[in-house]
Amino acid sequence: METMENSNSVVFDKLALEHGGMLATNGHALYQSRDVIMDCLDKMLRCSNTLRPLITVADIGTADGSTSLVLCNEIIEKVRKYHKQIMIHYTDLPDNDFNRMFSIIQEGLRRGPDVFSAAIGRSMFKQCLPDQSTDLIFSSVAAMNLSKRLRRPNINQSPDQSNENEVKALKTLAALDWKTFLVMRGRELRPGGYLVVLNIGTTKYGETTVNIHGGKATLDQILKTMLADGLITMNEFLDCSSCSLVERTETEHIAPFKENDKDLEETGLELVSIRSFVHQLKHPTFYVSNKDEATKKLYADRIVAGIKPWLYNSIYRGLSSERSTSEREILVEKYFANLWDFAYKNNDQIPHLALVEIVAKRRQRQSLKTK
Ligand SMILES: C[S@@+](CC[C@H](N)C(=O)[O-])C[C@H]1O[C@@H](n2cnc3c(N)ncnc32)[C@H](O)[C@@H]1O
Repeated sequence: METMENSNSVVFDKLALEHGGMLATNGHALYQSRDVIMDCLDKMLRCSNTLRPLITVADIGTADGSTSLVLCNEIIEKVRKYHKQIMIHYTDLPDNDFNRMFSIIQEGLRRGPDVFSAAIGRSMFKQCLPDQSTDLIFSSVAAMNLSKRLRRPNINQSPDQSNENEVKALKTLAALDWKTFLVMRGRELRPGGYLVVLNIGTTKYGETTVNIHGGKATLDQILKTMLADGLITMNEFLDCSSCSLVERTETEHIAPFKENDKDLEETGLELVSIRSFVHQLKHPTFYVSNKDEATKKLYADRIVAGIKPWLYNSIYRGLSSERSTSEREILVEKYFANLWDFAYKNNDQIPHLALVEIVAKRRQRQSLKTK
């Protein structure tokens, strides 16, 4: 199966920003794990060497840093009680909008002479932080992205539904990426440090994420219509609808911890807990039945604002590079205008995310083998 480098960085336009950016996109799902993260911080602070003056925290796949801002401020307040300095590392893909992120942090992070922050533009499938440097790592709604995009083999089948070899290629990549993610975080954590990952996935009851009436089939159908209307070519259709993320089950998330994998073993990272659940996104229009015209428009705005930031680049980068930038932009806007029309007419779906939360800890004492 053909693969391409994946770059799923988010893109915010006026509509997305008017509706709260990441809030519209994932309903700040991270706060479903807030208590778990604060509990890990508590345990780590109580056990950490009281003479060590610095606590290091990392947000992996932070986007513009807006989602984790309130959490980071809580973490800062907690660390201050222990009279320690804190360093917060914000990591994301190199083409992430770090300018936007810095202005959000500048404005909203509770700064002080004891608070330090830095941005790292590096893929989460690489080591982003030095060996054994970090006390607490969290990552929300990011690690379901794959390191590579798998090109759709034909119009009728997406890579997750096609022939045995293609399904196998997807499963192999998904398993390798998740293991790599864990190994990298395991290396970065200090002994006794915690990792909390909240991933889009498949719940233990088989629920998956639905962003719009009809779910993924709707996102696909809009592209098919653009193909049928002669607006995009078959090659572009296949590239635009390639597979760039996976919805792993609890079992798939646990697998690397059970496989006695040498690389993961060496990091000393151990599974603490796993749970899965559905998180409904919130907006006043979602709960109105028999919507009037104005409410239908607001509903469609909010639905598109929730999808556009993470889907924009997939469509834009799937379009032929022989087209001019403005031609590609017009086509992407056409895609989202069609999606808006669909949401306006099909306005009964309350969007929800299916999430899997994984908590892991690096063993306190271990025989440290070299990599
Ligand atoms: C939906 S956003 C989530 C942002 C934020 N963590 C939150 O909870 O709102 C997903 C983020 O994952 C990032 N991402 C995707 N692939 C990545 C990779 N390989 N390495 C690092 N970040 C990645 C994207 O750039 C994007 O910022």
